Formats: sequence, C-alpha cells, structure tokens
Amino acid sequence: MTKLSAIEIYTKHAEQYDTKDFLKHVWRTVDGEDIPAEQLNFITNSIRNALKLSKDDVVLDLFCGNGHLSHFFIDEIKGLHGVDGSDYLIKIANENFRIENKSSYACSDLSLLNLDGILQNSLFSQKDFTKILIFGSIQYLSKSLLADFLTFLYKKFTNAIYIYIAPVPNKRYAADFFKKRNVDVTTVNLDDNNTPIGSWHDPKEFMDIANGAGWKAQEIPFENRHYQSFYRFNVLLSR
Ligand SMILES: C[S@@+](CC[C@H](N)C(=O)[O-])C[C@H]1O[C@@H](n2cnc3c(N)ncnc32)[C@H](O)[C@@H]1O
Repeated sequence: MTKLSAIEIYTKHAEQYDTKDFLKHVWRTVDGEDIPAEQLNFITNSIRNALKLSKDDVVLDLFCGNGHLSHFFIDEIKGLHGVDGSDYLIKIANENFRIENKSSYACSDLSLLNLDGILQNSLFSQKDFTKILIFGSIQYLSKSLLADFLTFLYKKFTNAIYIYIAPVPNKRYAADFFKKRNVDVTTVNLDDNNTPIGSWHDPKEFMDIANGAGWKAQEIPFENRHYQSFYRFNVLLSR
C-alpha cells in the first residue's frame, strides 16, 4: 500500500465528518470529542497575544486547514489569506469563512515553496502581509526542508514582522507521550512528517534553524492549561 502524504491524511480524515464539524476536520479533539470552548479560547488568545494582532494587520495563515481557527480573529484584523494543501479543506474554508474583500484562500502544497501557488486568489499582494501564522502544522514539512522554508518566508514576505509557529511536537517529551499510549517510543519514527502527528522537533535545534534562516527565534510558553502543553512547544520568529 502506498503511504499517504500529510495532505492526504488530513483530507481523508476530514471527509469522514459532517462538513460543519470544523474541529474534528483538523483533529482538534481529545479522545474523539471536540476540545472544550475554554481550550479553544486559550488557543485563539495565544495567537492574538503572540502576533500582537491589530486592525492594521494582514495575516498569511499557512496550513490554514478549513479556515475555522482564523475566523475567530478575522474581525480584529484588516485581512487574511489562508493557504492549505487540501482542496477539500480549502473548499470548506471558502464556503464557510470567506468574507468578501477581507479574506481569501488558496490550495497549494507548501513544501513546493511556490510563491505563485501561495498567492493565487489572494486579495493581498506579497508586500501586504504583516504577520504569518503557522498553527499546528510545521511538523508536516520534512525536517530537511525546514531551513529552506523559513528562509523562503524571510525573503519573500519582507513586511511580515512575526511568524507564530505553534504548537510543535517536542522530541524531548516524545517518550512520555507514547508511554501514556502504551507505545514504545523506539518503535516510532519521530522524523516522519507524513503521519497524523507529524515530525517531532527539539526546541533548541528548531530555534537554531530559524535563527540561521534570518529570524530571531524565541520560545513562547503556553498560557494557562493548554491540553497539549505537556508535549509541545511554541516559537515566535521576529525580524
Ligand atoms: C492540524 S491541521 C491545522 C489546520 C489549521 N492551521 C488549524 O490549526 O486549524 C494541519 C494542516 O496542514 C495541512 N498540510 C499538511 N501538509 C501540507 C503541505 N505540504 N502543504 C500545505 N498544507 C499541508 C493539512 O492539509 C491540514 O489542513
């Protein structure tokens, strides 16, 4: 059987559910149930605070999924363009969250570093983007591509002052995570990006790569009791 890519894994996963089951589409669940509203608030507040969102911001939401997450702060910013590799999830974003003259979405495989693909259908031009969000997703890029990807964003989106990358599976806690699930960590390939969790990163190595790509990287602690805080980390990149 051929192995599925992360885009295919997410598309097949989302297709099982009702088209309005937005949290389930992107696996924002615990034991199969939607995360509680309180947890969703922690997440959206952490994005607002990390990116210091304001009315002047145009946000590039990379790996945007079905657009559900960014719709929570769309009224607080000037505009948004979301990009995801899943045609199915982009269709859901367009049907449910697109706001005329304010938000747009594109289907593009981000591992291709294809600027035209990223900017297709965009209401905004390359220079308009002031902040970039990569939520729950950097782990679906192969580790060997991370440096080139962050360099690409640094060079192409020169007016973007921040990238918030969160929450990333933390390699240091992988053994604890799998032990709780009765899985021996030595049987798992932690570097495989084409799995439901994606690849696991070491925070220090991750920040070194980001710094090497031109950004200034800082780890941002979880606020409150985020349900994934025991095995993930967050990073803010700035110029
Ligand atoms: C956990 S979801 C996160 C979606 C959204 N950021 C959120 O937090 O609700 C991961 C997303 O990454 C997308 N994805 C995975 N690999 C990708 C790639 N190479 N290019 C573009 N999107 C990709 C999947 O289609 C999926 O929508």
